[in-house]
Amino acid sequence: MTFTVAIDGPAAAGKGTISKAVAAKFGFAHLDTGLLYRAVGAKAADGVDPITAAQTLNNDDLNRDDLRSLAAGQAASKVAVIPEVRAALVDFQRRFASQDGGAVLDGRDIGTVICPDADVKLFVTASAEVRAHRRWLEVGGDEAQVLAEVRERDDRDMNRADAPLKPADDALLIDTSDLSIEDAIAAAVNAINAAR
Ligand code: DC
Repeated sequence: MTFTVAIDGPAAAGKGTISKAVAAKFGFAHLDTGLLYRAVGAKAADGVDPITAAQTLNNDDLNRDDLRSLAAGQAASKVAVIPEVRAALVDFQRRFASQDGGAVLDGRDIGTVICPDADVKLFVTASAEVRAHRRWLEVGGDEAQVLAEVRERDDRDMNRADAPLKPADDALLIDTSDLSIEDAIAAAVNAINAAR
């Protein structure tokens, strides 16, 4: 049985938390596709050509311990505008999505480009201020600077020519600005139950 759940949205909207929870609940495999771009961005920061980095990405690259920082997020967003980088990562994501037993993929273009026929599409969002506050609680530092980085990344991700961040026409919108984690997960679980 294949069953694909596509979860898209901007940074720190709650995609990861919701994805992990629904994957655990339904026994689906989970792929955080942002990690692929973060790994390419980190290799690019090490001096590797980003297209080559994407074409040769391996498990060791994905297991680096420096992929979660704000800087790695910015580096990911920068290499993610390169069409050849995106193209190199498509097959891996589609194979993951079509595995037996069901899969949840979270990212920016899963419902629009990678899996346009996904069984369930969710677009998880929240205000930039709420998302920056959540990120700041994780990373600390200057909250105004974190908000500026969130806005910069939103702007780059939403306005790139290739596979920009936007909801698929048939995506269910979940705004987590004023939702508890439990309520956000419940909204996702309900949407999946309705489609099974
Ligand atoms: O989800 P994240 O914050 O780890 O993603 C890091 C960056 O990677 C994000 O700013 C844009 C890029 N990305 C993308 O372009 N497409 C995806 N499917 C996932 C991430």
